[in-house]
Amino acid sequence: MSSEERRARDPNAISIEFPEGRRLRSNRSRGGGGAFAFFAAGILLGAVALGAGYWLGGRGAAPTPPGTTSTATVNMTGIKYVPDSITVDVGTKVTWVNKDPVYHTVTSDEADGPLQSPNIEAGQSFSFTFTEEGTYSYHCIPHSSVQSGKYVGMIGTVIVRAGGGNGQHGTPIDLPYAWRDPVTTAPPPGWHEWNITLRAEEVWLEVAEGKAYAAWTFNGVLPGPAFRVRQGDKVNLLFYNGGSMNHSIDFHSARINWATAYRDVPPGEAHTYSFTADYPGVYMYHCGSNPVLDHVANGMYGVMIVDPLNDTRPTPAQGREYVLVLSEIYASDDVNASGVYTGDHAKMLAAEPTEVVFNGYAFQYDPRKAYGYPLNAGQDELVRLYVLNAGPTLVQSFHVIGGIFDTVWVENNPENGLRGIQTWTLPSSGGAAFDIIFPDAGLYPFVTHSFAYTGLGAVGVLSVT
Ligand code: CU
Ligand code: CU
Repeated sequence: MSSEERRARDPNAISIEFPEGRRLRSNRSRGGGGAFAFFAAGILLGAVALGAGYWLGGRGAAPTPPGTTSTATVNMTGIKYVPDSITVDVGTKVTWVNKDPVYHTVTSDEADGPLQSPNIEAGQSFSFTFTEEGTYSYHCIPHSSVQSGKYVGMIGTVIVRAGGGNGQHGTPIDLPYAWRDPVTTAPPPGWHEWNITLRAEEVWLEVAEGKAYAAWTFNGVLPGPAFRVRQGDKVNLLFYNGGSMNHSIDFHSARINWATAYRDVPPGEAHTYSFTADYPGVYMYHCGSNPVLDHVANGMYGVMIVDPLNDTRPTPAQGREYVLVLSEIYASDDVNASGVYTGDHAKMLAAEPTEVVFNGYAFQYDPRKAYGYPLNAGQDELVRLYVLNAGPTLVQSFHVIGGIFDTVWVENNPENGLRGIQTWTLPSSGGAAFDIIFPDAGLYPFVTHSFAYTGLGAVGVLSVT
């Protein structure tokens, strides 16, 4: 069932546009039709398939994509292991951090098991690198007991599976990558209450050809899922922190007491709030945890399009509405021991990006690249591009070479239409809808006309036939 069908059937259906990005690079095919290898968290996909149980409960971590984890962290807090179950690849170093005021241990349930930590005092940690596949059950000696031959109380599990053998610099990378089908469609008519789930996940993603990046994401994709609602709709958010550090969630489409709604959520915990989408717009959402520069630069952002309630504008041609999120990536000069680039805080502060990208991957809509493909449009058809600049810092200049924007609808608002625009400024966290009509067939590049950044990946092509 498509998301559209699901919405039509059930006004309470989840509005997540699910992770188009999570295909294996090796499975990528131009123009679709290739095998989709969804790695996405089974829990979330399950919830979508059911179309119902969207409140993602439980503390277990969803499996990480094969080959995307080199380290993992389990917190010991509240006399529990959080998360109490993790799935990692062979070769992963798992670190247990004691956040309780009392000591704990990490001790294999099997007497000859490999986990035999000393007492881990408050504030201390213990690490173990798993080199063999298997399921490793463990417990804390002072906070567990044996009942009917099984440990109960403070217990945990590590599931270790064969890795993907990837991410090593200079070898073929076989990671999910930040790729996205940018087609977007309007929500069905009528008022809706949307239940959406976002999950903080720290994963490795390919963000440019051959370049694996240790991203911090929503739902394992970069940008996070694109949402589209209508002015006046209600949004119920469930946020779950599946990461290793505090994360949070700030929706620019909300008017809300931010101090409580956008608070830090510790690892393993869930947080909810609701809001009404009062204004139309092309809105950013993002993690606002400290330092926000790093959380956004590392990938914790996405877009929520709010359609106007009374839309007096011309209707774009069928299938010719596209969503594009511009953002900067600040990768380290060198890969880490796992062959992965990490966020470079000094470059972030200097606003010297290594990539500037549409929808998380350099040149993905540029057919000059072997992996690139253009967005399609028809001669004399109305195309509408919803463009958000997620930053985190730079102002961008959106332009289509060979085209003029018939109308720029600032923040997607029919009252904010500006006619005949060559280039439009998008501040960091600014968005607009761009209407454009091509009288001639051809290939029309869309770029940031801030040319220091164009060559870093911010070029795509509209193919007009
Ligand atoms: Cu964050
Ligand atoms: Cu913000």
